[in-house]
Amino acid sequence: MAVRGAPAPAPAGAGPDRARRAGACRTPLPLPGVAAPVRPALPHSGEPGPALSHAVHLRLAPGSARAPRAIRPAPPAVHDQTHRRQAEVPRGDGVRDGGVHRRRDPRGRRRAAAGGGLVSASHFLVTGGAGYVGSVVAAHLLEAGHRVTVLDDLSTGFADAVPPGAEFVAGRVQDTAARLLSDRTAPPVDGVLHFAASSQVGESVADPEKYWRNNVVGSLELVSAMRAGGVRKLVFSSTAAVYGEPERTPIREDARTAPTSPYGATKLAVDHLLTGEAAAHGLAAVSLRYFNVAGAYGSWGERHEPESHLIPLVLGAALGERPHIAVYGEDCPTPDGTCVRDYLHVADLARAHLLALDAAVPGEHLICNLGNGNGFSVLEVIEAVRRVTGREVPVVGAPRRAGDPAQLVASADLAQQRLGWRPERTGLDEIVATAWEFALRRRAGTTPGNDRAAPSAGTRPDAEDGTDNGSGPGTDDGPDERPHRGPGHSGNERERGAP
Ligand SMILES: NC(=O)c1ccc[n+]([C@@H]2O[C@H](COP(=O)([O-])OP(=O)(O)OC[C@H]3O[C@@H](n4cnc5c(N)ncnc54)[C@H](O)[C@@H]3O)[C@@H](O)[C@H]2O)c1
Repeated sequence: MAVRGAPAPAPAGAGPDRARRAGACRTPLPLPGVAAPVRPALPHSGEPGPALSHAVHLRLAPGSARAPRAIRPAPPAVHDQTHRRQAEVPRGDGVRDGGVHRRRDPRGRRRAAAGGGLVSASHFLVTGGAGYVGSVVAAHLLEAGHRVTVLDDLSTGFADAVPPGAEFVAGRVQDTAARLLSDRTAPPVDGVLHFAASSQVGESVADPEKYWRNNVVGSLELVSAMRAGGVRKLVFSSTAAVYGEPERTPIREDARTAPTSPYGATKLAVDHLLTGEAAAHGLAAVSLRYFNVAGAYGSWGERHEPESHLIPLVLGAALGERPHIAVYGEDCPTPDGTCVRDYLHVADLARAHLLALDAAVPGEHLICNLGNGNGFSVLEVIEAVRRVTGREVPVVGAPRRAGDPAQLVASADLAQQRLGWRPERTGLDEIVATAWEFALRRRAGTTPGNDRAAPSAGTRPDAEDGTDNGSGPGTDDGPDERPHRGPGHSGNERERGAP
């Protein structure tokens, strides 16, 4: 499936000129005479932004100007006492690398560091916060002093991955977001970070309806719920898979979008949805198109089931949990003949989300690639695992698979210009080392836990079970849509050249 016509790349900087220089265009605000919206540093109730921005906000987001309200228990329909919990971290403390850290400003007031500056704490809804990326971002938000509510149906996530200090609501975005965001008895939500999705490429080819329903309908319901609840800031997890086979690398945001899987197509559809929402209703939206997310952040790391990403698979082989790693093709036009991918450390990715919250502008949909900017081949990853672990990794050769792009490397220039973001953990050994530490912790049982918690009544994990039973490559990170390895495939191999 090919879907063309990506949303227009978004602007750079505060003004239209800078936006044009960065190859981006601002979605015009539907207000006559408003050339460049002024944005507050990090809008939140109680801290009025500039007059113009405030006026735009009021006009475009009815309900956003609601009076401050007292914190009361949410209605029973929203609060499932079994699965909505506030972990035991005192207010004002943060979570860092698996530990709780005290943090107060000199006046004892709760403050949050987001982006480049210090701003007052905000309340964010993190959908999919029991998953790999969402849990790490939730931990970073807490560490920065924000309040976090996680909404997750545990279809592929784990209740014990929700960081201490976050409130956890078990439920599907489609069924629960509207009630959560319109709940006047709970603290108002200042923005949403939307990770909840099904993200197995192979499964999406086998069951596209599931992907359109969960990823697109889910996002549509979320955006509607946000508008109804007056929540006007959204950071969305998009993917490099929207580009399909790249015409050139590094891949920029203005590259042709032609996803080769329903998964990529659904993410691109949501990008289009957000462009329209920003233009029509003043949503401040940022889509972050991740390349290959890797590594771990203390107790939070990758535990997809089945695992489809290269680094944890190779680590599994080093641990003897897998018999070997299959390298598909050593005849690519790359230095060592194996496919090259862009591995981005999950903590760098998390920082980008906090910066994106800061950079989001009402009426604009900003789209940024997030990658390391360096490509590493499959053999380089295997070598890094050998170096870091000191263990052998059995490798078997296999024919190159049709449709595996030789190289997928991001240009992260726009993220640098617009978010002020630069990846810091760019060395492969460093990325692998954190993943290795996490793998060892998991083995020793010192990560938050290894069991998926039973969902509450009212959640529907059965409907969105994101696993592919080990039969398909099902990896998120790349345009490869070839899931059609027979059910006999063990999953003990590297799933694809696109890791
Ligand atoms: N991991 C990567 O390399 C990568 C790359 C590009 C994009 N992404 C995107 O980033 C996001 C997070 O990826 P991840 O690797 O953490 O995946 P994950 O499967 O670990 O996390 C997704 C979480 O969302 C939850 N979820 C799914 N559908 C839901 C729904 N309808 N309602 C509530 N919760 C729901 C799952 O239970 C899970 O906890 C996804 O949107 C994915 O498409 C990931």
